Amino acid sequence: MLQGKHIVLGITGGIAAYKSASLTRLLVKAGAEVQVIMTPSAREFIAPLTLSTLTGKPVITEFFTANTGEWHSHVDLGLWADAMVVAPATACTIGKMAHGVADNMLVTTYLSAKAPVFVAPAMDLDMMAHPSTTANLNLLRSYGNHIIEPASGELASHLIGKGRMEEPERIVEVLREFFSSKGQFAGKRVLVTAGPTYERIDPVRFIGNFSSGKMGYAIADALADRGAEVVLVSGPVGELKPRNPRVEVRKIESALQMLDECQKVWPAADMAVMTAAVADYRVENRADSKIKREGNLAPELRLVENPDIAATLGASKKPGQLLIGFALETDNEAAHAANKLKRKNLDAIVLNSLRDAGAGFGTDTNKITILSADGSAKPYPLKTKREVAADVADFISSLLK
Ligand code: CTP
Repeated sequence: MLQGKHIVLGITGGIAAYKSASLTRLLVKAGAEVQVIMTPSAREFIAPLTLSTLTGKPVITEFFTANTGEWHSHVDLGLWADAMVVAPATACTIGKMAHGVADNMLVTTYLSAKAPVFVAPAMDLDMMAHPSTTANLNLLRSYGNHIIEPASGELASHLIGKGRMEEPERIVEVLREFFSSKGQFAGKRVLVTAGPTYERIDPVRFIGNFSSGKMGYAIADALADRGAEVVLVSGPVGELKPRNPRVEVRKIESALQMLDECQKVWPAADMAVMTAAVADYRVENRADSKIKREGNLAPELRLVENPDIAATLGASKKPGQLLIGFALETDNEAAHAANKLKRKNLDAIVLNSLRDAGAGFGTDTNKITILSADGSAKPYPLKTKREVAADVADFISSLLK
């Protein structure tokens, strides 16, 4: 997977820089061409000679070579790279990357890079836990960078906690996984629904639910990262946006609008992933002007059933199309989910239970079991919604085969 890949390896000034030599060796052994860029302080921790010997290329630190005046183009390097890896990434470099402080070759190359960027933080536990670091890492994530979380263990300070750079073997594994998953969905048109629907009572009030849309947006991103053309039909989710610019978002408000938009996309789609928490009912006697309290009795709302969007798509599913549903249950989970799978003519259903801590609405984590039409059930451990999205994408990809 890494054969012939161009990797820009950025090394910053931390004790873990000594591990960058092993990382470089593993990358070269896997067939990658590696160009090392060091920050000035990284040279205090590991000799450039070690790295240039391992890669067979001079290490770049400065914008130009002092004695020859040779200019090193961060733009060319950024375009050359198939991936950029910053390992170890100190709190300082993470901060500079997050805020575009381009005062060295590493950060300028990062800003010019068109390729995916992987960041492996390494620092003391208190620096790692500081809200500034958390905010900077979240910014980097929101720009589409991949953070390779540090492990817990003994740190350079001899304190024990989170902040140890992930082992070089694992970093290489992450890159391998990335390159192998790219293109899994190339040429596939995918419909994803996400978020809640709002059903109006009057011009200022609605019936809704607590769905944040995070799971659906993460799935749309994961599929687009793997090459799919994604149309994301989304209910109201505030400021939430997909990270991948290739996801096309179509905003709707109500279940009827969501159905309408889905029916435009579904006939030409290869698959649909239904994560939306669609309101089961809408208000039949919706008021055209604001319902007033004064002098009135409590209003009576008459509810009518909304269409089942997943089931509607399921009923018109053509051979070769895949339909994946989600189910959030509170009791008798597997039986309810299996029933929905059948009723809606789904190929698989992703079940999460509100009884599992960390699963459900609003959280950044989720714990799922995927049930398939063939009766099999695959449980997964508690993970971040991004990781769950990657698992769901991998699972769907296995159905394609
Ligand atoms: N779904 C849908 N349209 C609806 C209701 C649900 O597309 N009107 C989809 C959801 O996006 C999800 C799956 O169907 O993929 C299951 O949703 P859920 O709300 O759990 O199912 P319901 O059939 O509404 O069952 P209930 O609310 O009774 O649990």
